Amino acid sequence: MKDWFTIAWRDEKVVLLDQRELPEREVYLELEEPEAVAVAIETMAIRGAPAIGCAAALGIALAAMRSEAATPEDLIAELERHFDRFVRTRPTAVNLFFALSEMRKEAERFVATASADATVLRRRLLERAQALLREDVASCRRIGEHGASLIPAGSKVLTHCNAGALATAGFGTALGVVRAAAARFGNIEVLANETRPLLQGARLTAWELERDKIPVSVLTDGMAADLMRRGKVDLVIVGADRIASNGDVANKIGTYSLAVLARAHGLPFYVAAPLASVDFGTASGDSIPIEERDPSEITRQGERRLVPRGVPALNPAFDVTQASLIDAIITEAGIARPPFTESLRAQASQRD
Ligand code: MRU
Repeated sequence: MKDWFTIAWRDEKVVLLDQRELPEREVYLELEEPEAVAVAIETMAIRGAPAIGCAAALGIALAAMRSEAATPEDLIAELERHFDRFVRTRPTAVNLFFALSEMRKEAERFVATASADATVLRRRLLERAQALLREDVASCRRIGEHGASLIPAGSKVLTHCNAGALATAGFGTALGVVRAAAARFGNIEVLANETRPLLQGARLTAWELERDKIPVSVLTDGMAADLMRRGKVDLVIVGADRIASNGDVANKIGTYSLAVLARAHGLPFYVAAPLASVDFGTASGDSIPIEERDPSEITRQGERRLVPRGVPALNPAFDVTQASLIDAIITEAGIARPPFTESLRAQASQRD
């Protein structure tokens, strides 16, 4: 039984595991203000595309629950500034915009009923946010079931960043596939790239797999090529922050290098993500906004300076892997194969 959770609504608060503290300490933040939820997203107390969306949805619900607006119209007007605030937290993961748009649709559906009861609208928004969390876990489980068929027994699976239960409302996308494959065969081994600069692979992927007793070793980000050449990797699987309609994938910086390396060594490269991560309004990866984070994440480690004073550092949080380097995109609707423009569209239309 899993004895931890990523994010939940408890006692009228948004409660989340502070991922900045892992693996050393398990600290849950109890957030009573929507602004605190926005800051938790920005400072990466919670991170990972689906989890960011879940946090924003619960943040809107929290804003609604705390509002004293007397009518649904006043409540919706008041929520506008919270929507604006959450939209500005992190730009790349499209799940943030998906979740906020689902919350907005819920409010609009309510207004269409012509009810004058703001309290009912508050409840509806909370219920919708909680349903988004449940839907995310259900999608991850389906991704796991579909994806497990691509992982032969005994595989050594290389992953990057953290696309696990910590990055979602539970179970995970890339790690959901690993979990499902491990449940089927029991002998899956994970190689977790440490993922500079914030070390999501070393700190988070290793932490959650170790809790599940799935064998995992941590690699530095530069090791993959050598391990692949020596036959120590069977396949690569990663998550996604945003998938363009042509199948280009934005994910943690370093993902693109792995895709190039996998192709050079004849290894499969898979992406696992819910359809909520597909942005059909973005034609290709060139139009995906890439978050630039503070260079101090690279130049410093706590109090310690790692780079000489005055030397700049680059800190794009994500890169784009071209669809041509991806063998399959695993979603809750199945396994999409190239050409992705058609296969992703077909999966989405089954869902709609
Ligand atoms: O900057 P982060 O930690 O939010 O980046 C997370 C990733 O890049 C994940 O791989 C991605 O969000 C997929 S999570 C299921």
